[in-house]
Amino acid sequence: MDLTISALWMALALFFITTVLTKIANGRITYDPVCTLPPPPEVRGIALLRLLPTLCTKGPEATMHDLYNKFGSIFTVSFIWKRITFLVGREASVIFFQGLESEVAQGDINEFTVPMFGQEIGFAVDYNTRMEQTRFLVESLRPAQLRSYVDPMLQEVEKYFAKWGEEGVVDLKHEFEELLMLISSRCLVGKEVREKMFGQFCKLFHEIEEGVNFASFMFPYIPIPVNRRRDRARIKLTEILSEVVRSRKSFKRVEEDVLQRFIDSTYKDGRATTIEEVSGMILALIFAGKHTSATTSTWTGACLLSHENFLDAALEEQKCIIGKYNDKIDYRILSEMGTLHNCIKEAARMHPALPTLVRQVKKNIIVRGKEGNEYAIPKGNILVNLVMVNGMLPHIYKDPEVFDPDRFRPVREEDKAGGKFSYTSFGGGRHACGGEAYAYMQIKIIFSHMLRNFELKLISSFPKPDWTKFMPEPKGKLMVSYKRFQLPSN
Ligand code: HEM
Repeated sequence: MDLTISALWMALALFFITTVLTKIANGRITYDPVCTLPPPPEVRGIALLRLLPTLCTKGPEATMHDLYNKFGSIFTVSFIWKRITFLVGREASVIFFQGLESEVAQGDINEFTVPMFGQEIGFAVDYNTRMEQTRFLVESLRPAQLRSYVDPMLQEVEKYFAKWGEEGVVDLKHEFEELLMLISSRCLVGKEVREKMFGQFCKLFHEIEEGVNFASFMFPYIPIPVNRRRDRARIKLTEILSEVVRSRKSFKRVEEDVLQRFIDSTYKDGRATTIEEVSGMILALIFAGKHTSATTSTWTGACLLSHENFLDAALEEQKCIIGKYNDKIDYRILSEMGTLHNCIKEAARMHPALPTLVRQVKKNIIVRGKEGNEYAIPKGNILVNLVMVNGMLPHIYKDPEVFDPDRFRPVREEDKAGGKFSYTSFGGGRHACGGEAYAYMQIKIIFSHMLRNFELKLISSFPKPDWTKFMPEPKGKLMVSYKRFQLPSN
C-alpha cells in the first residue's frame, strides 16, 4: 500500500517537474542580434528582493506605481526563468493593443481556458477560427441585439428586488453576483435553463470557475481535484446546452437570446456552428462577463454610497427620467442616464475588474514609451499592461485618486483628451471588450432600479482590493442597509 502511494507521489512529482521544464523551454528567451536598441530598464536579483517589503505592506498597485515612477513607462522584472515587461500609459500600450497575434499573442497565456470551455473554441482552435468565433460573440452583443435584452433584464431585476423586505441589511457584493448570474442565464443562455435548471447550471458553472486559480493557470491539465471537478462540470454543462439546442432545432423554436444567435451563426465558408462550439462560446461569454460585471457593480456601489454628492446627482437624474418617461425603461432611455454611466466608468477607472492584461511576445518588438525612449523587447518575454496604473496617471486624470465621475462629462472628457488608450478598463484595440455596452446596460438597469426603490446606506467600511484572488475583487462583504421608498419624479 505504502509502495503504491510512494509510486503515485513519484509519478506526480515527475509530471510536475516535466511540466515546469516544458514551460521553461517554451518560454525560452531569444534575442535578435540584429536589433541594436537597448532593452528596457530591468529589476532583478537584489533589486527584486528589495521590492518584497513594499509588495507585502503596500500591495501590488502601490509597488507598480513605485516602479513606474522610478523606471518610467516600460520596465522589465526578471523572475527565475521569466522576464516580464510592464507597460504603462497610452504610448507604451500601442503595440500591446494593436499588435498582430504573430507579434503579441494571447494564446499561450490563456491555455488555462481550454479545459474550461472545450477543445472546439477560443484558444484551443486556430487563430482564424478563433477570430470568426469572436465575431459571433461581438455580433450577438451589437446595439440592434442589445435592445432585445432590455426587457428580460428588467424583468429579472424587478423579480430579484421584489424578494427584498421593507428594510434590511444585505451584502451587496453577494446580491450582485446572484443577480448578474440570473441575468446571464436569461439573456445569454435562454429561457429553458433559466426556468428549469438555473440552480444546477449555476453549481456546475461555479465548478468551472473554480478552475481559475494559480495552480490551474500554471498547469491546466494536472489531475488535482479542482481540475477534475472543472472537467466533469464542463462535460455536464455541454450535455445540458446540447439538449437545449437539439430541442430548439427539432421543434423549430427560435428565441431572443445569445444562444440562438450562436446557433444561427455561420463561418465565412458557410459552415454552421456545431453544438460543442455553441456550448463552449456560451460558457466563455458568461465567464468573460460575470466576474467583471459583478466586481464593477460592487465598486460602483461602494463609490456611489460613499460620495453623497454623486449619489444625489444620480438620484436627481433618475427623478428627471421618471418625470419624462414614468416607469418606462428602454435602450434609448438607458442611454440618457449619463451621470449613472459616468459613475460606473469612474469606478472602473479607479478599480478595474481586470487590473492587468497579459500577452506573450512572439517576435522581437520595439516599444516606445511616454518619455520618447525606444526599447527592444525580445521574443519570449511576457508583456503585462498595467491597466490599474493607466487609470491613475496624473497627466491624464486630474487628482486621479479622487472619485470624480464629472471628469468624463463633455468639455472635460479627460479620457478622450488624453488620447487613444488613455482609458483601458475595457481593454482596447484588437481585443477590446466585446461586451462593454451589454455590461453598462445591465449595471445601469440594476442601479436605476435600486436608486428608484430603495434608500441605501453603506454600513461596512470602504473595501480594499483582494489581491490574494486570481482575479482581484473588493475584499470581504459590502454591507448595505436598505429601506423601501418610491423616488418621486422631478
Ligand atoms: C464591467 C464589466 C466588464 C469589464 C470591466 C470588461 C473588461 C474587459 C477587458 C479589459 C477585456 C480585454 C482583455 C484583453 O485585452 O486581454 C475584455 C474582453 C472581452 N470581454 Fe469584457 N468586460 C466586462 C464585461 C463583459 C461582458 C458582460 C461580456 C459579455 C457578455 C464581455 C465579453 C468580452 C469578450 C468576448 C472579450 C474578448 C474580446 C476579444 O478577445 O476580442 N465582457 N473585457
